[in-house]
Amino acid sequence: MFGNLETLPADPILGVTAAFRRDTAPDKVDLGVGVYRDDLGNTPVPSAIREAERELLAAQTSKTYVGPAGNVEFNERIVALALGPLAASLRERTATIQTVGGCGALRIGAELIRASNPRAVVHVSDPTWANHEPLVGSSGLTLQRYPYYDLATRQVAFEPMMEQLERLPAEAVVLLHGCCHNPTGVDLSPTQWVIVAETLARRGLVPFVDLAYQGFGDDLEADVAGLRIVAERVPQFLLAVSCSKNFGVYRERTGVLAIVAESPAVATAIATHQARTARRMYSMPPDHGAAVVARLLADERLRAIWESELRDMVARMKLLRALLAERLQARRPDHDFSWLTRQRGMFSLLGIDPTAIAELRDRHHVYVPPDGRINIAGVSEVNVERVADSIVGVMGS
Ligand code: LMR
Repeated sequence: MFGNLETLPADPILGVTAAFRRDTAPDKVDLGVGVYRDDLGNTPVPSAIREAERELLAAQTSKTYVGPAGNVEFNERIVALALGPLAASLRERTATIQTVGGCGALRIGAELIRASNPRAVVHVSDPTWANHEPLVGSSGLTLQRYPYYDLATRQVAFEPMMEQLERLPAEAVVLLHGCCHNPTGVDLSPTQWVIVAETLARRGLVPFVDLAYQGFGDDLEADVAGLRIVAERVPQFLLAVSCSKNFGVYRERTGVLAIVAESPAVATAIATHQARTARRMYSMPPDHGAAVVARLLADERLRAIWESELRDMVARMKLLRALLAERLQARRPDHDFSWLTRQRGMFSLLGIDPTAIAELRDRHHVYVPPDGRINIAGVSEVNVERVADSIVGVMGS
């Protein structure tokens, strides 16, 4: 048994963290995995989360099972945070399950699509988050890519994207990033969201929105404007939410899958499939993260503290974008780096080739995933000169 298994290559993102940890260079820089970092390079637990955790520990009287759907209050609050007033009007048609992070939501969503239509094809943006294809594809579904990013303009390749969407057959699933597109940092404009949503509705396509960075782009409301535009126009959609980044509860694996169905009866059936899928894969989600987030969202004071902490994180990332752009510009006046400041959220693509990426790592001890994505939060006032020197050093002419 197991003797036939070959050692696998490292995960494109988590492997960068492992390689970074092995590097003994004192001035190494990790621009890999998408976690927020402060000036000291730490990923702190937001103080609102700490306080909610203390309250939870004091109030918790049992650790008995919760059930496959997890914390129902948490599910409702997260869906309301994402969908706003639409959550109430869509409630009867919504089947929700707490999941093992946003990954769990994507995977259970994929399992349900496959259970309903094994031949369904999921269309993902080109490029997309490095784990989307393995994660969704491991359900057995076929994946294809639609054009999304134009490296020359560093903007959405909107026309090619729409041409592709217009060609898809009804019931094709279209995976969209709710905001802060990973890895490009380039989002659809509100006008583009309307065009996409109307096309999805007209052609009977099924959106699967991955919302992992609500609040990390502009703010909690603006970042879900596109999602709500879609939710208002299509009869059915899937929504995968991660609380890892905006609540800073990464390792607690806290997420939600909401499926809005064409009718309440279908939603009821979906809920049974969600529960059975979870039961067969891992039975029930971990409770802690969801219980803490639910408590925080229910408490006006804690919620205000959290929102302000989130605003601080976002403001800092915007500053770092500007700082890095300015330092790069100073070194290479013949290039335009203003795209860095226009992009949103944690990530941007450097647009450098694998040789340059290896050189960044081996010569400069600056770590980025194989797609050349950088985590802006990994830049700091302390390392920005070194980061800018290193990038310019591998850029070529
Ligand atoms: C990332 O994109 O770096 C994060 O979402 C972490 C992960 O699981 O890949």
